Amino acid sequence: MVSSASDDAADAARPPAPVEGAAAVELIGIGKRFGSVVANDGVDLVLRRGTVHAVMGENGAGKSTLMSMLFGLLEPDSGEIRVDGRSMRFAGPLDAIAAGLGMVHQHFRLFDTMSVADNVVYGAEPRRPGVFGRAFVDRRAADARVRELAARYGLDTDPAAVVGSLSAGARQRVEILKALHRDARILILDEPTAVLTPSEVDSLFAVIRRAADAGTTVVLVTHKIHEVLAVSDEVTVLRDGRVTGRFATRDASAAELVRAMTGRAIAEVKNPGTGTPGETVLEVEGLSVSDGRRTVVSDVSLSVRRGEIVGIAGVSGNGQHELVAAVLGTLGVAAGHVRLAGADVTGASVRDRRARGLAVIPEDRRGEGSAVTMTVAENAALGHHRSAPIGASTGIRRGWMSLKVERSQARELIADYDVRTSGEQQLIGSLSGGNAQKVVVARELAHGAPLLIAEQPTQGVDVGAIEAIHGRLLDYRAAGNGVLLVSHEISELLALADRVLVMYGGAIVASFTAAEATTERIGAAMAGAAAADPTEASDAADPTLTANAADVPASGTDGDEASRSHFAATSREADTAHAAWGRAPRETGDVPGATAPDPTAPHDGDRA
Ligand SMILES: Nc1ncnc2c1ncn2[C@@H]1O[C@H](COP(=O)(O)OP(=O)(O)OP(=O)(O)O)[C@@H](O)[C@H]1O
Ligand SMILES: [Mg+2]
Repeated sequence: MVSSASDDAADAARPPAPVEGAAAVELIGIGKRFGSVVANDGVDLVLRRGTVHAVMGENGAGKSTLMSMLFGLLEPDSGEIRVDGRSMRFAGPLDAIAAGLGMVHQHFRLFDTMSVADNVVYGAEPRRPGVFGRAFVDRRAADARVRELAARYGLDTDPAAVVGSLSAGARQRVEILKALHRDARILILDEPTAVLTPSEVDSLFAVIRRAADAGTTVVLVTHKIHEVLAVSDEVTVLRDGRVTGRFATRDASAAELVRAMTGRAIAEVKNPGTGTPGETVLEVEGLSVSDGRRTVVSDVSLSVRRGEIVGIAGVSGNGQHELVAAVLGTLGVAAGHVRLAGADVTGASVRDRRARGLAVIPEDRRGEGSAVTMTVAENAALGHHRSAPIGASTGIRRGWMSLKVERSQARELIADYDVRTSGEQQLIGSLSGGNAQKVVVARELAHGAPLLIAEQPTQGVDVGAIEAIHGRLLDYRAAGNGVLLVSHEISELLALADRVLVMYGGAIVASFTAAEATTERIGAAMAGAAAADPTEASDAADPTLTANAADVPASGTDGDEASRSHFAATSREADTAHAAWGRAPRETGDVPGATAPDPTAPHDGDRA
């Protein structure tokens, strides 16, 4: 039931299937440009009250831009927004909130050092009378409000917990509570599942269904077709800023959705399993890591050889991230050894390790993976700006950089990876999420380091780009390099890995060859069940540890601070280098990785 772009306007008023409900929101002919980039072009979208409406599309298709306009963060160049039949002009998010909208952003906007309750009510605090006519924040009322909302919508949360210590799933629940506290009747969720584990996704969907059944209108931006089919009532597909498909979910097929998104069918990429692994490039032996309070990596041993992809499966928060940080050198180890190509690097610096041929695609592409205030070209060169052909490590050009080379290399990368951008001088922070991820992947693969650590490499990228990145990782393996692939997506591990190790409670509890690995076996081991046939499992998980993601701090620990800063340091060096070349750094004081809320975030409720 794909409709062509030309009859969009007619279709907007007349959806194809009998999905009932009055229009809560109508977007009519919405247009938005950024310089030469047309982000939205005559987009029509009707959101029916009490339904879940999925918005899909490739990276850069214009989904986040459209949602930002609906939430008053951006002003449309053309078109009209109607809420409950009334034409609206939002001067900012506060107007949108007043009209009943709430948004959970692709990147969270919370205060890490504040409690859940304080974050939820921030800017709209319950007050009680104080002295001299001043009102105080009523903390008890705030706690009660959070508990009441949490119970009503089935959002499991502790109002007193400090946000910085929470897992991604728990942080997201805080964002949803924040919107519900402000009585949002229309809830916008921009890629809410990109950072969630399968069980967290299930509970989110239960919350979404419960909210819709209670009359809330939900817009869900996602790349994952099975999620759309599982939870939505209607689907709109965008491509290059235009609507290319509208479906009632019950009539839609996965193949139709893919075609509307990409204009083609997508072939699944699969590791052929051929070739013999060569010498060992990474050897981890008896590695234990503590976060100061408890053991987060427990006696892990593993090796990666040239020409193989070793997958690490596990529910987030079971030590995978800390294992990667210890191999990278951003987190100290309590016991054990890390060897790169035979050399013991257990105490070596990150820079030292990278110089030995270690590339990394980090989980947190905005914090660790890129410097958001720098351009695509600068980001593409990060970590390689000191050496040829961009810079020089010796001779009279030492410390200088060639911007010409930097830019021409970036242009090649953009073309090669189909990065949707207005040019290599665009700030990476203004790229769409998936396109920023492509830049990080491209940069790390460019130098043929013998060992690549890829942490959630396809997080937030569209189906076409997943296919492309998977293909690149297999080429990397075929070229004789080793890859340590950490992923929450079992399907990704099954497609790419030669061996899959499963982490649970900080330890490796199961190991499967590609032939042995199945979704069921990996899933069971991830959940802590004894592995069906552990061929290489180390000791069982430490019983004092738990697989509950919320219990193992996923971030906010000392180790995480250290790991956040490793690219920040690199980018500051790059800034210095650029300054030496006669160009000032673009912005000062904005250290990538700082998680301070965006100033445009709707925190400023006092004005209302
Ligand atoms: N502030 C901005 N300045 C310049 N260009 C921008 C800005 N915001 C978005 N764009 C561009 O607009 C286009 C649409 O971006 P948008 O973020 O809406 O895509 P998206 O569909 O959300 O993609 P993704 O799935 O990767 O998140 C992209 O080409 C992007 O580079
Ligand atoms: Mg987006």
